[in-house]
Amino acid sequence: MKKLLLLLIFASFLSAAILQAQPLNLRCENLENPIGVDVSAPRFSWQLTGTGRNIQQTAYEITVQAGKQIVWNSGKVNSAQSVMLPYAGKPLQSATQYSWKVRVWTNKGEVSGWSKEAFFYMGFLQPSQWTAAWITPGFTEDSIMRPSPLFRKEFSTTKKIVSAHAFITAHGLYEASINGQRVGDAYLTPGWTSYNKRLQYQVYDVTHLLTKGNNAIGVTLGSGWYRGSIGFSRPNFNIYGKDIGLLFQLKIGYSDGSSQTILSDGTWKTATGAIRYSEIYNGETIDASKEQAGWLMPGFNDAQWTAAKTANFSKSHLIATRNEPVKKHETFAPVKIFTTPKGEQVIDFGQNLVGWVVLKTKAKAGDSIKLYHAEVLDKKGNFYIDNLRGAKCLNTYVFKGSNDAETFEPHFTWQGFRYVKVEGYKRALNAADFTAVALYSDMQKTGTFESSNALINQLQHNIEWGQKGNFLDVPTDCPQRDERLGWTGDAQVFSRTAAFNMNVHNFFVKWLQDVEADQVSGKVPYVIPNVLDTNGVNSTGWSDVATIIPWNMYLAYGDKQILENQFTSMKAYVESIRKSSKNDLWNTGFHFGDWLFYRPEDDNDGNAAVTDKYLIAQCFYAHSTQLLVNAANVLGKKEEAQVYTALLEKIKAAFLKEYVTANGRLVSSTQTAYTLALQFDMLPESLRQQAADRLVLNLSNYGYHLTTGFLGTPYLCHVLTRFGYTDHAYKLLLQESYPSWLYPVKNGATTIWERWDGQKPDGSFQTPGMNSFNHYAYGAIGDWMYRKMVGLDTYEDGPGYQHIKVQPHIGGGFTHASASLQTNYGKLSSGWKLEGNKLTMHVEIPANTTATVYVPAKTVESVTENGKPVNTHTDIKMQGLENGYVVLQVGSGMYVFETEK
Ligand code: BGC
Repeated sequence: MKKLLLLLIFASFLSAAILQAQPLNLRCENLENPIGVDVSAPRFSWQLTGTGRNIQQTAYEITVQAGKQIVWNSGKVNSAQSVMLPYAGKPLQSATQYSWKVRVWTNKGEVSGWSKEAFFYMGFLQPSQWTAAWITPGFTEDSIMRPSPLFRKEFSTTKKIVSAHAFITAHGLYEASINGQRVGDAYLTPGWTSYNKRLQYQVYDVTHLLTKGNNAIGVTLGSGWYRGSIGFSRPNFNIYGKDIGLLFQLKIGYSDGSSQTILSDGTWKTATGAIRYSEIYNGETIDASKEQAGWLMPGFNDAQWTAAKTANFSKSHLIATRNEPVKKHETFAPVKIFTTPKGEQVIDFGQNLVGWVVLKTKAKAGDSIKLYHAEVLDKKGNFYIDNLRGAKCLNTYVFKGSNDAETFEPHFTWQGFRYVKVEGYKRALNAADFTAVALYSDMQKTGTFESSNALINQLQHNIEWGQKGNFLDVPTDCPQRDERLGWTGDAQVFSRTAAFNMNVHNFFVKWLQDVEADQVSGKVPYVIPNVLDTNGVNSTGWSDVATIIPWNMYLAYGDKQILENQFTSMKAYVESIRKSSKNDLWNTGFHFGDWLFYRPEDDNDGNAAVTDKYLIAQCFYAHSTQLLVNAANVLGKKEEAQVYTALLEKIKAAFLKEYVTANGRLVSSTQTAYTLALQFDMLPESLRQQAADRLVLNLSNYGYHLTTGFLGTPYLCHVLTRFGYTDHAYKLLLQESYPSWLYPVKNGATTIWERWDGQKPDGSFQTPGMNSFNHYAYGAIGDWMYRKMVGLDTYEDGPGYQHIKVQPHIGGGFTHASASLQTNYGKLSSGWKLEGNKLTMHVEIPANTTATVYVPAKTVESVTENGKPVNTHTDIKMQGLENGYVVLQVGSGMYVFETEK
């Protein structure tokens, strides 16, 4: 018997080893087992495992089931598609769970086994399926402090529960629990959208939280983005409405096949509790003595509570959540506790992060401990909060006084900080009492980058932390001062880098819909969701978010639907510029321009790096039009492609006439002007190289310092590489003195700074009104590090890394650089290493893709793969020589190329 078993195990091991491919990492709408999908044809993706070379899928078969009933069997379909394949079975039903699995055939003549089952749970496909009523507190709220209202409801069940799903949303933010246990691990729900047009709800599987018998639901609300202070339009609160509200619908399925719903309605009870004050910018005050002990459990006496009021807020704009919710991630223990020269008790967590501090300690009843937050210390070593502007960033905890340690953490606010000043702590600070928790959207980490230069590795670290801190449900400019808004310019500038570090696909799918929702006659507001003046629209380089991010996401993820969904928005935006332009020149309106560019004090007029704002506007007008043409071509919209190609020609002609001399000098002789003109092909071929030379001359005039602001910076090194000046790009990258990427790194930065000189060499600060130490925009250099330095890229004809380009650029004195990326097809990685004259490249290409690999070598004969001359490999195709590279075509697999430098 035992022998037989061993034999069976051995046989199955053998077949697994022989089998080249197996589908895994199943995703539905880019999410693993999503709960709450409200599209009628969700899209399925999977990856093929298998380390063998050149594995291609030739066919697939998908089965989708509701329980035992098959609702779609695709049959065997001859197709290589493994990413975002739309459901095509019987109509899917709301609030129903489906399971699915897939198997594949490959070019190796094999069929895989069925994948492991994955599932998805449908949200509501029609708004009418919301039968719960919106409810608000039954008491009159304090209009200033606005303590968080509590909502509770008890109910009992007698039958055996087999499934239970809670659909929840709020005006404001909510935290729900059932029988004292938190529902889900998402924070700051329902997230931030253009609330009056789109309000997300979340769906949770709460089967495990319910019991047969009595059950209690408890929900706490916070003002959040909905009615708390946000932005700087005055007044800056109650932007979406003054009434906080809850919508809650619980569907319970029983073993006998029946079901029951528990709905928010006038039978719910309301009161206030421990959270006495909560605002995004100012922080939270929790008074534990005001806790309603036991209110989350069944049997609590709520006779003194007031009945909730029902409200007829709209339900027609409710949508299921598209993106990953905000969750808790890394935790940090204090690395140092110290007293500042001013006598302040301060904790250093060693990392500028976004989230909050959990405090766990004992104190007497009525004692309060205050936690203030700051990003930096001033030059004397004191706690520095001037750059927070009006944001108090203060959490106050009042103790009830118990024998056990009390634990406090905020619920409806967050802080951006590295340092915490503690007041009211009656002993020497005990490190174990304080834990900092990072919160950000739960995006999968997809990228890694590593090199032989420790400063550049720290730069990558800072870029990643800038992203973590500012991808908190929407892409924000900064996480600490009284701003924290979805600034469009910042987001577009950083979007491509972001797509390397983490999977930002759904994050941007969701936010782009808000871009569209908030457009005003096609014009794009400065911030999305727009909580500022609606007249603040169409600033060049900011408003182009409407075309740039859809295109970047299409490239990064190969998602055509993102272009389909955004096409109207893209076109409306380009049209809005066309309407305000004269003679094809966009030279009207307010523009931020090359925001925060370098302004040297000792330049004659202090303006040497100023780039004409309308010159910039013309470049972005062209770029957006080009992207619209690209999108039209992808979507087969021939007429639009033609119309906008013609417009593009006129825009470029107008640019030449207005901003370029006959010999190709730009009217603004700045790094940004030359960079944008070259990046967006504004100059005819004949004038390009001289423009690149002028750019390089400018760089050397500044001693290889960049002078670019938000708009020039992302493209600067790309342009240098494109025109054969990678060595200069490296000089810029490695520049350690201000202005440069490494100046902050050398000064101990753990995130990207808003300004090149946030803290000056003498330790003094830039003006406090605009000096965030966690602003991701300048982190856009990450894109060049991945795409050019290591050389991981996708071709436009196989977007989403279906057709991969690997082309490293060796230089800068680096002895190695490597990066990896979890693509929709699986892991892609590449790394180069120099040892003396020997150059080694390790490349990993995922199954079901193809790659063009550029090996830096002068002759094919000088390249080996896996120790053998590269041209003796039958599975590697020679494509030729190109600018100092041997160009090869490969399929999936691991490759080790070697050559002499
Ligand atoms: C933000 C920026 C933003 C800018 C507009 C600032 O206050 O922090 O990052 O893009 O305003 O110019």
